[in-house]
Amino acid sequence: MSETVLLVGGGGREHAIARALADGDAEVHACAGNRNPGIAAVAESFETLETTNSKAVTAFAEEVGATLAVVGPEGPLEAGVADALDDAGIYAFGPREAEARIETDKAFQRRFMRQNDIPGCPEFETFDDTTAACEYIDEYDGDLAVKPAGLTGGKGVRVVGDQVTAEEAKEYLRDNDYDRVVLEERLVGEEFTVQAFVADGQLRVTPAVQDHKRAYEGDEGPNTGGMGSYSDAGLELPFLTEDDYREAVSVLEATVEALDGYKGVLYGQFMLTAEGVKVVEFNARFGDPEAMNTLPVLNTDLLDVLVAARDGEDLPQLSFAPKATVCKYAVPEGYPTDPEAGAKVRIDEGSAARAAEGSDGEAILYYASVDEREDGVYTTTSRSFAVVGVSDTITDAERVAEDALAVAGEEGLRVRHDVGTEDLVQRRVDHVAELRGE
Ligand code: AMP
Ligand code: GLY
Repeated sequence: MSETVLLVGGGGREHAIARALADGDAEVHACAGNRNPGIAAVAESFETLETTNSKAVTAFAEEVGATLAVVGPEGPLEAGVADALDDAGIYAFGPREAEARIETDKAFQRRFMRQNDIPGCPEFETFDDTTAACEYIDEYDGDLAVKPAGLTGGKGVRVVGDQVTAEEAKEYLRDNDYDRVVLEERLVGEEFTVQAFVADGQLRVTPAVQDHKRAYEGDEGPNTGGMGSYSDAGLELPFLTEDDYREAVSVLEATVEALDGYKGVLYGQFMLTAEGVKVVEFNARFGDPEAMNTLPVLNTDLLDVLVAARDGEDLPQLSFAPKATVCKYAVPEGYPTDPEAGAKVRIDEGSAARAAEGSDGEAILYYASVDEREDGVYTTTSRSFAVVGVSDTITDAERVAEDALAVAGEEGLRVRHDVGTEDLVQRRVDHVAELRGE
């Protein structure tokens, strides 16, 4: 039976989900705050609406006769959009508001880990008082990560000893006066992501990915939602052993066991440290950009996973093409602190896709937070589009991504060209060797 799937969200991640669904037997209807031209092109219909408005999303789902829904971003999950869809009889692949707190409330997340003995939890304290938090920074012997408990689009954390001094961290807390913050030990190592499909207590894991949070080349500048990411031809990464990967998976397994009734994607952000794998955070959805690494190499039909989740059947075992991927985002000038929204951009999806013709690789362009209007495509305050190179090795995939970028229309936008380069990957490998005392 064919399925009618409602897709919520209009970023690069959602374009990747839309493609993966449309490649299968799904009829996709999409809604987002911005009109993403890539999603609109593969969807039967596209509605511009506020995706945190549960009533509007549910009404649209009912109007198109959705038999399933996928909620891409965290905002709607926090707003209870999955609850509203479920309650309307439309199974949402995405956790209900209470379970999404694993992402949307970092204080809850750490306490949950502590209470359930989930391995990899750093030392932490939670505060609802800025003065007490500042005192703790003064007293703490070592560096801390300062984390607002609520959602900040990946841009709220300040790490003492890395991005800021202890004085600057306190100033940051005083300036913002967050209701609740988590202060936790600074983890030193290499970050990586493992995403899993979860339903009925089962999970199916996907290859590890490394994202690049910092805005500028060489890992400089403020944190962003992610500037680009890469994955290798297997489940691991060049700096990550099979044992490290398994350690991360066992954290996800323990988390799923402790979470009652979680459904959707569980995203683990890990730090490989000298003491093993630690949890930086969990997200309650696919990563963006990481979904753009994972979905193009997923051979299993995404729709089959969603249908099995809805119908309470065993989730299919996943199969992945043995290919490496490199994803690079083009973002508005000034992103993330002072992004230039409303600039007209020319994005040439066709030329980008043809960039890999005649090679073993594949190039894909995903539109992200741009808005298609009658007279063209405009930037918003978030990331504009991404290109993904898919090939046998990370180095080859990186070249494919660069070839695609060269013709995609990155003028006026900014790219971290170092993502996935041999140099940068080697630095990760060397860093981990140093941490391990090799
Ligand atoms: P989050 O929003 O929790 O993903 O944090 C954003 C980024 O801040 C992470 O990707 C890390 O680079 C950094 N970060 C968060 N927590 C820590 C920590 N405990 N130690 C070091 N860096 C961290
Ligand atoms: N890539 C980071 C995130 O999706 O939160």
